[in-house]
Amino acid sequence: MDHPHVVHAINPLEGGPAVPANLNREQLTRGVDMQGFAGKVAVVTGAGSGIGQALALELARSGAKVAISDVNTEGLAETEARIKAIGAPVKADRLDVTEREAFELYADSVVEHFGTVNQIYNNAGIAYVGDVEVTPYKDFERVMDVDFWGVVNGTKAFLPHLIASGDGHIVNVSSLFGIFSVPGQAAYNSAKFAVRGFTEALRQEMAAARHPVKVTTVHPGGIKTAIMRNATAVEGFDKESLTRTFDKWLTITTPERAAHIILEAVRKDKARVLVGPDAKVLDFIVRMSGSGYQRLFSTVMPRLVPNAH
Ligand SMILES: NC(=O)c1ccc[n+]([C@@H]2O[C@H](COP(=O)([O-])OP(=O)(O)OC[C@H]3O[C@@H](n4cnc5c(N)ncnc54)[C@H](O)[C@@H]3O)[C@@H](O)[C@H]2O)c1
Repeated sequence: MDHPHVVHAINPLEGGPAVPANLNREQLTRGVDMQGFAGKVAVVTGAGSGIGQALALELARSGAKVAISDVNTEGLAETEARIKAIGAPVKADRLDVTEREAFELYADSVVEHFGTVNQIYNNAGIAYVGDVEVTPYKDFERVMDVDFWGVVNGTKAFLPHLIASGDGHIVNVSSLFGIFSVPGQAAYNSAKFAVRGFTEALRQEMAAARHPVKVTTVHPGGIKTAIMRNATAVEGFDKESLTRTFDKWLTITTPERAAHIILEAVRKDKARVLVGPDAKVLDFIVRMSGSGYQRLFSTVMPRLVPNAH
């Protein structure tokens, strides 16, 4: 029996609204503004690293029961151990988000295990660097398979269960690169713009059909994770140099801070959330400039990032 007994009590830190009384001091401190997650069943893909790991841990601290998955079983085992140390119920499975049938079976197994499911965070993703001219079709397809189809697979596999729960939420991770494009990122840009289009349509469909499922699109800016270290690139590209630049200059926000911002947006039922100050500033520039940003970025980007061809 791994479900904690959740009792609601007055929060002594705030003298305010109810929070689960079985949480320890760290959980109580971190979970104060995270009400709404206690007792919920949340699914996180790509939970073995970065934003997914931080989301899973923050959800666990906020009293959720967590189903985590990844293809990186080592990272997944670490996340599982840390969730167990928090004392939250956890189910950990190896799942490749590109495998549609496996995803559907997985959705059934989560419902069988926890009795219901309330939230899915379609977070798993990969990065790739290469100009269109030299990027092989297979690399475009691989990025679309994970970053776009992985999100569609997760959404469709869980949607009937989320509707049945009476209190569902789908959280799809796009990117700041789902808002504007940059040279060398056509594959990733395509997938992340597609996630945005898919998710914004879905939110409207759920509202129009009066289904009890909320929908949020997440647009992170540069987050300090392994994404660029794990990325692949077109042959001959100096990925090491880009990884150093990315890690040193282009990542501002920690995954923990990102998870906190995302969960706050989920709690408030935001349609979209920009994660990090860079995301807010660049979104503003792009909105103000219309298509004019393309002239600016095609001049600035080659100075920051080596040519990807
Ligand atoms: N880090 C950033 O700056 C940034 C910015 C914008 C968007 N994002 C997005 O955030 C999400 C999380 O990325 P992150 O930065 O934490 O990167 P990360 O590399 O630290 O974590 C991504 C996780 O996804 C897993 N994964 C990859 N392919 C998978 C597959 N086919 N099936 C299941 N799991 C798979 C990886 O094993 C890894 O554990 C991604 O969708 C990414 O595109 C990240």
